Amino acid sequence: MTHLVPLSSVDAGRVEELLDDAFGRDRFRRTAYMLRQGMPVIEHLSFAVTDGVSVVGSIQCWPVAVGNLPLILVGPVAVSPDRQGQGLGHSLMHASLGATQPSDVPMVMIGDPEYYSRFGFSADGTGGWTLPGPWEPRRLLLYNPQAIPLPEKGMLGPRL
Ligand SMILES: CC(C)(COP(=O)(O)OP(=O)(O)OC[C@H]1O[C@@H](n2cnc3c(N)ncnc32)[C@H](O)[C@@H]1OP(=O)(O)O)[C@@H](O)C(=O)NCCC(=O)NCCS
Repeated sequence: MTHLVPLSSVDAGRVEELLDDAFGRDRFRRTAYMLRQGMPVIEHLSFAVTDGVSVVGSIQCWPVAVGNLPLILVGPVAVSPDRQGQGLGHSLMHASLGATQPSDVPMVMIGDPEYYSRFGFSADGTGGWTLPGPWEPRRLLLYNPQAIPLPEKGMLGPRL
C-alpha cells in the first residue's frame, strides 16, 4: 500500500537516499542540478510516495527561467528501483501537473521523451536554448499547454 503525500511531509534524508538509489551519488554534477542551484523547492508542486516505512518515489519542482521568462523545472522524478513499473511515476507526474496554477506553466525538464511525452512534454521549442552544463537536446523537454510565447534563444538557469 502506497500513499502520495506532500514532499514537505516526509523526512528529507529519506528523499536523498531515494535519489541516490535512482540516480547515483554523483547526481549533483548533473546539468539539471545546475539549472536550479540555490533555488527553493516549490512545495505545492512537489510530492512523495511512501509505503509507510520508506520513501519510494518523489517529484520536485523548482523556479527557473529562460532569459527573463519564468519557467518551472520538473525533476528529479524518481521511483525506487524495486518499485519501478508499478505506476508510481505516473502518479507523481499527474499529482504535480494536477496541482499547477496558471502561473506554474510553462514547465521544463531534462528527461526521456519516450516516457515524458505521454504527459505532454516535448523538445519542440527548446532547440535554441543553452544550459550551464552538457545536455542532449532531444531530452530538453517543455510542457506549454497554453502555448505561451517563449524565446527562441536563451540561457536556462536559476530564476534570479
Ligand atoms: C522514469 C521513472 C520515474 C518512471 O517511473 P515508474 O514508476 O517506473 O513508471 P510507471 O510505472 O509510471 O510507468 C511505466 C511505463 O513507463 C515506461 N518507462 C519507464 N521509464 C521509461 C523511460 N526512461 N523511457 C521510456 N519509457 C519508460 C515503462 O516501460 C512502462 O511502459 P508501459 O506502460 O508501456 O508498460 C522511474 O523509472 C525512475 O525513477 N527511473 C530512474 C530515474 C530516472 O531516470 N528519472 C527520470 C529523469 S528526471
